[in-house]
Amino acid sequence: MSRKWTAALLAGALALTGPAGCGGEDAGSGGSGSGGGKITLGFSQVGAESGWRTANTKSIQESAATAGIDLKFSDAQGKQENQIKALRSFIAQRVDVIAFSPVVESGWDTVLKEAKDADIPVILTDRAVDSQDTSLYKSFIGSDFVLEGKKAGEWLVKEYEGKTDTVNIVELQGTPGAAPANDRKAGFADVIKADPKFKVIASQTGQFTRTDGKEVMEAFLKTYPDIDVLYAHNDDMGLGAIEAIEAAGKKPGTDIKIITVDAVKDGMTALAGGKINYIVECSPLLGPQLMDLAKKVKAGEQVPQRVLTEETTFTQEQAKAALPDRKY
Ligand code: AHR
Repeated sequence: MSRKWTAALLAGALALTGPAGCGGEDAGSGGSGSGGGKITLGFSQVGAESGWRTANTKSIQESAATAGIDLKFSDAQGKQENQIKALRSFIAQRVDVIAFSPVVESGWDTVLKEAKDADIPVILTDRAVDSQDTSLYKSFIGSDFVLEGKKAGEWLVKEYEGKTDTVNIVELQGTPGAAPANDRKAGFADVIKADPKFKVIASQTGQFTRTDGKEVMEAFLKTYPDIDVLYAHNDDMGLGAIEAIEAAGKKPGTDIKIITVDAVKDGMTALAGGKINYIVECSPLLGPQLMDLAKKVKAGEQVPQRVLTEETTFTQEQAKAALPDRKY
C-alpha cells in the first residue's frame, strides 16, 4: 500500500484541510442517471462490523441528505461478492457516481473497468484497491493506514524506552486482505523491528469485530501466559479482548498494555478509564468530503487522486479531555 500511495502522494495528494487542487486526471461527466438535476450516488458499504463503520455510514447518509444527493446505499455484509453485485446494479441503474469502501484490496479490476466503460466515475472511500490502473477510479479519500500502524509502534517503543526485557506482543488483525489490516500490521512491524526485545508472539484475525476479538484473545491467553502488550487493529477488537482479559483475572491497561486504532466513543471511554493505553485515531467522518468530490466529478471538474484524512493520537489523559466533545 505505501508503495502505491507514495507515487500518488508525490503526484500532489492533498490533506483534507488543504487547498482544493487537481492531482488526478480529467474527471469526465459520468453517467446519465439524473440528467443534470439531482445527483444519484450509488454507495456500497463494507457492512456494520464496528463502531467506526456505524459512524461512517451515518456520516455518509447525513451528508448526502444535506448535500441534496440521492443516495442509493447498499450494505455488503462483509462480502466482496455482494459489493461486486451492488456495483453492477449501480451501473445497470446508470447512477451518476459510484463510491465504495472495498472489503478487501484485490479483485476489483473487472468491475471497475465495467464502470469506466459505462462512463460512470468511481470514488474509493476509506479503503484502497490494489489495481495498477489508477484510471479506473477518480479519487481515493481516506486514512494512511501504514502511518496509523507506525504511530502505534512509536508509542510502544517510547513506552519501553531504556528497558531491556523481552516484550511479548499479541496482535489482533482486521479482516484478512483488507487494506487497514495489511497496512496497520506492516506499519507497526516496520517500527518495532529496530529493537529485538519486541516480539510478536501471536498474530491472528479478529475480523474487526468485538466477538471475534474476544474469542481470539481468550485463545491467546490460554496459550501464552506472559503477554505484555496487545495491539488491536481497531477499538472493537480491543474492547472484546478487554472482556477476555478481565475474565482471565488480569487487569487490562496494567497487566497487559493495549494499543488500538479508531478512537470511537467506546474505545475512548475505555482509554479514559485506564483499560486501553493508547489509541491511534482513524476518522470515519468522510461523508462531507465524499459528497463534495461526487459533485465535482459529476460536473467534470478535476479532483485530487488522493485525499488524505487528518488524524491524531490519544493518551489516557487526552482521551479524558476529548471525550465530552467526541461526536462518534
Ligand atoms: O477501514 C476502516 C476500518 O474498518 C476501521 O478501522 C475498522 O474499525 C473498520 O471496521
